[in-house]
Formats: sequence, structure tokens, C-alpha cells
Amino acid sequence: MRPSMFRSLQSAVARSSSAHIARRGYSADSVPERKVAVLGAAGGIGQSLSLLMKLNPLVSKLALYDIAGTPGVAADVSHINTRSEVAGYMGDDQLAKALEGSDVVIIPAGVPRKPGMTRDDLFNINAGIVKSLCSAIAKYCPNALVTMISNPVNSTVPIAAEVFKKAGVYDEKRLFGVTTLDVVRAKTFYAGKANVNVAEVNVPVVGGHAGITILPLFSQATPKANLSDEDIRALTKRTQDGGTEVVEAKAGKGSATLSMAYAGAIFADACLKGLNGVPDVVECSYVQSNITELPFFASKVRIGKNGVEEVFGLGPLSEYEKEGLEALKPELRSSIEKGIQFANQS
Ligand code: 2OP
Repeated sequence: MRPSMFRSLQSAVARSSSAHIARRGYSADSVPERKVAVLGAAGGIGQSLSLLMKLNPLVSKLALYDIAGTPGVAADVSHINTRSEVAGYMGDDQLAKALEGSDVVIIPAGVPRKPGMTRDDLFNINAGIVKSLCSAIAKYCPNALVTMISNPVNSTVPIAAEVFKKAGVYDEKRLFGVTTLDVVRAKTFYAGKANVNVAEVNVPVVGGHAGITILPLFSQATPKANLSDEDIRALTKRTQDGGTEVVEAKAGKGSATLSMAYAGAIFADACLKGLNGVPDVVECSYVQSNITELPFFASKVRIGKNGVEEVFGLGPLSEYEKEGLEALKPELRSSIEKGIQFANQS
């Protein structure tokens, strides 16, 4: 990327945050101090995410943690002339320091998919990683907002909840599964098909974050477009298979890293704005929920000073979306149960 592109990205991030800051009536000089920790910062998603968080003017301290490689990533990112102080932490011994004082913890740690794998195939490795990271969060920054990227998100969020419950620190308002990439994809694909300005598109995506559990609600997409049933089915399928499209294109070299980092950074920014008291911060996220019979479900949520302030219902669904909703429930339920069982097993 050319330096001018970095500058415009940085100033775009700064401008959007400044607009929110101004709406709250405080100047950019009095932006609250906020520490963000990235766990898995040297990985494929983690490096780009670390860069994007370094560009975010709402961050004052950026802690980059991984089992290896973080001194290099931290040194590199730290030279960027933005607000936050960057520190790298490596290995179990330094996890406590990385976490202490964090307001937001982002977890992209773990292994990615290879062609032919589902997100659930990552369970055996990533579940253990998430469990141990969440035990440390429970100990060192139990009040942080935790945003989970590690797959399978449908199971890792319930694992995190169980770990926090066991430690006596669970607050369902502070735990989020990041499903923003599904929204990002739905917006991009819809804009292309409907031939509308992508910057103006909104599409809620509900359910979970794997295959058919990803349910984009194109009937609620704006701006409205006259798409055929066939178009809607194709858009839905492409959104559900978006991760697999990238895994196949990368042909064994991992899964979505750049778009996932972008999505993770958008969601972390929403959390920071919510914590800072910016009104009406609404994003889709996979959270503890009672809008269906499933204990965890992705839908629009309002994020505020204490985390989730409101979980929105699904709104009116088309017949096709109603069928999709019923079809996703068994898989989502079993992924949730698998996570809960794993967390309580050892
Ligand atoms: C995806 O949807 C990595 O789960 C991520 O591509």
C-alpha cells in the first residue's frame, strides 16, 4: 500500500471517530484513555488487526500478545505516528501484563481453515486456546469487553461464557462473537447485485458464524432493490460461503485475514465508541440472547458503556428467511452445546 493510502485510511478512521466524539460534546484532546489487547497479534488476522487498531484514535494503549513473534510486530506497528502506545507481549508469562487494565480484548488467536475444512473442524485446537485465554481474562481484566474472532465462533463464545461463569465473573453484556465479516460480505455482494452505492448499504445478518447458521436478512436491506427470489438465494448462499470462497482461493494458505481484520477492527471501534458513551452504536453480534429459544444468537445489538445494552429482535422476515431460521437452529444448538460441554469437561 502506498504511504498516501495509509494516510487516507488513517485520516478516514480519525475523521469518523472525531465525528462521533464531537457528537458527544468532547474534543479530540479529551478522548478517554482506552487500552485494547489483541490476543493472537502475530497471526494472519492479528497482524492486520494490530495495524488497524494502531490507526484508531480511540485507542491509547495497544497490547499485542501472542505465543511468539510479537516483539517484531509490536516494534513495526509502534513506529506509526498515531496516538496509542504499543507494547508486545510473548508467551504465557507475559499474558497477565498484556491483559491488565484492558478495556477491550480482541481474540483472533488459533489456527485457520484449510480447503475442505469447516469452521467446526478447528474446534479441537482452538477450543483449548480460547479456554486458556479466557481463564486469563477472567483473572486479569474481568471487566473488559471481549470480542471473539477465533473459530468456530458458534462454539468459542459459549466456551468463553462457561469459563467466565466458573471464575464468577460472567457478565453476558461483555461477551461478543464477531460476525461483522458476514455483514461486510452481505453489504458488498448486495451492492454489486443491486447496483447501489456500497457505502449506503445496510443488511442485518443474524444467527451464527458458520455456513447455514449465517442468515443475511436481505428483505430488510437498504437501499431497497427489486431483486428476484433467485438473486436473493444466490446472495444468501454467497454470504454463507464467503469464508470458504476465501479459503479455496488461498489454496491451503489460510482463511480470510485482511477482510476479517477489517471486520474485527470495525467491531472493536464500535465497542470503544459504546464504552465512551457515543449514542446509538448498533452492530450485529453473536451474544447471549433470548430472541429465539437458543441461548446464543447473532442479531443487531446496541453497545453502550456497559457493553450490550439492548438485543434487538429479528423484525419481519420473508418466507425464505423464516425457513432459513428454522433450518439453522439444530446446527447452531449443537455447536453451542459442544462448546458448553467442552468447557465443563476438564
Ligand atoms: C471467515 O468468515 C475467518 O471465519 C472467518 O472468513
